[in-house]
Amino acid sequence: MSTLLITGGTVVSSTGRSRADVLVDGERIVAVLEPGSNLLGTDLAASVDRVVDATGKYVIPGGIDAHTHMQLPFGGTEASDTFETGTTAAAWGGTTSIIDFAVQKTGEAVETGLEAWHEKARGNCAVDYGFHQIIGGVDEQSLKAMETLLDEGISSYKLFMAYPGVFYSDDAQILKAMQKAAELGLLTMMHAENGPAIDVLAQQLHDQGKTTPYFHGIARAWQMEEEATHRAIMLADLTESPLYVVHVSAKQAVDQIAAARDRGRNVFGETCPQYLYLSLEEQLGATGDPAWGEFEGAKWVCSTPLRSRAEGHQDAMWQGLRTNDLQMVSTDHCPFCMKDQKELGRGDFRAIPNGIGSVEHRLDLMYQGVVTGEITLERWVELTSTTPARMFGLHGTKGVIAPGADADIVVYDPAGHTSIGVGKTHHMNMDHSAWEGYEVDGHVDVVVSRGSVLVSDGEFHGRAGHGRYLKRGLTQYLV
Ligand code: URP
Ligand code: ZN
Ligand code: ZN
Ligand code: ZN
Repeated sequence: MSTLLITGGTVVSSTGRSRADVLVDGERIVAVLEPGSNLLGTDLAASVDRVVDATGKYVIPGGIDAHTHMQLPFGGTEASDTFETGTTAAAWGGTTSIIDFAVQKTGEAVETGLEAWHEKARGNCAVDYGFHQIIGGVDEQSLKAMETLLDEGISSYKLFMAYPGVFYSDDAQILKAMQKAAELGLLTMMHAENGPAIDVLAQQLHDQGKTTPYFHGIARAWQMEEEATHRAIMLADLTESPLYVVHVSAKQAVDQIAAARDRGRNVFGETCPQYLYLSLEEQLGATGDPAWGEFEGAKWVCSTPLRSRAEGHQDAMWQGLRTNDLQMVSTDHCPFCMKDQKELGRGDFRAIPNGIGSVEHRLDLMYQGVVTGEITLERWVELTSTTPARMFGLHGTKGVIAPGADADIVVYDPAGHTSIGVGKTHHMNMDHSAWEGYEVDGHVDVVVSRGSVLVSDGEFHGRAGHGRYLKRGLTQYLV
């Protein structure tokens, strides 16, 4: 067991900040001390195995990205990050835990889908990882299988109101799954978009020759998200199932969540960096270059889609993060290369695999909200680490810098700078970046996962297989 002392930094939690030294023994934090403390008269800095100087820097709990899709089969291809490349990129960006979505495909047993996900991840992760369970086919068998999820360390499962014929559940299926979830205490996660109506709109646009990536966002209009969010909330209300709406991007959907929360319901919302910074206008081609209006926009095809800046959706997401109508920021990391993957949809936006890769950049991108005054430093930590831990049953072990917690720690340099893009900061297995050219304040300097230094001095010291499977408990976020 080795010891590590992080000295001279400002420890930031979701509730405050203070100058403190952090002592790590083995995999755990053992003490948070007055700066320069000498424990029992010994010179602490001289007696530990390693000292990390965090003078002038923030010391924060390692990021938890609760929405990733490594190796997800989707749209006739597979998300391009493996658990190894994706979690390595996560580590570079200060994310020390991910929660990925194990998939049960229609017609397959839940246990089979889950075991396949363990196979993909086991021994390959650079950071700790847990799973949510996608239920892609709600029937008697999968409802029964939900009863075993908690024993597997899975306290949340996801349904889709989108993607008919793939992961889609109809209202009857949703109702049954939510009843079961309420009985078991599981958190229902919902992809809330009206899939059948979207498919009709997409077909009509296609038939009118409107086939470029931009029309992906037009087909997935905000009404489709508002309507589905409302319906999900009503079904959750009726069944008394706590509900977590994933990747919220429409301001009208935030209004639905806020209204439910005002009624005291256990309804939560997550947004993603892309919905805070990027917009549908980008896909149309703000540069005036017709190429952007043609296929370049495929880089930003994701669901829910990027939305119009002029309509104020981005502002509404920041507002929701401030008012706690949105509680978390995850990435929905679902990377596809342009070559051979996004390319599948050249000439037909419906065939572009959906997803953006950001697992590496979440802390930096969200720190910009601190720089611009959208959120406080403490809220930054809360949105990216502390709430994900509480929401998904990891509180105490993850999400805090406190004695007894796992030593998952990031030393963040507010005076540093990060250039995002391929050939710069880019360890994701993608041939492009949705964030190309973003120059951001702040820098992830040192990343510690369960006491092991994964990143320091611009070098990666981690390894595939360091990351452990996280058996999660029930959500700790209910009112
Ligand atoms: O575009 C996205 N979000 N792809 C991943 C699948 C999903 O809906 O989360
Ligand atoms: Zn989704
Ligand atoms: Zn997703
Ligand atoms: Zn630095």
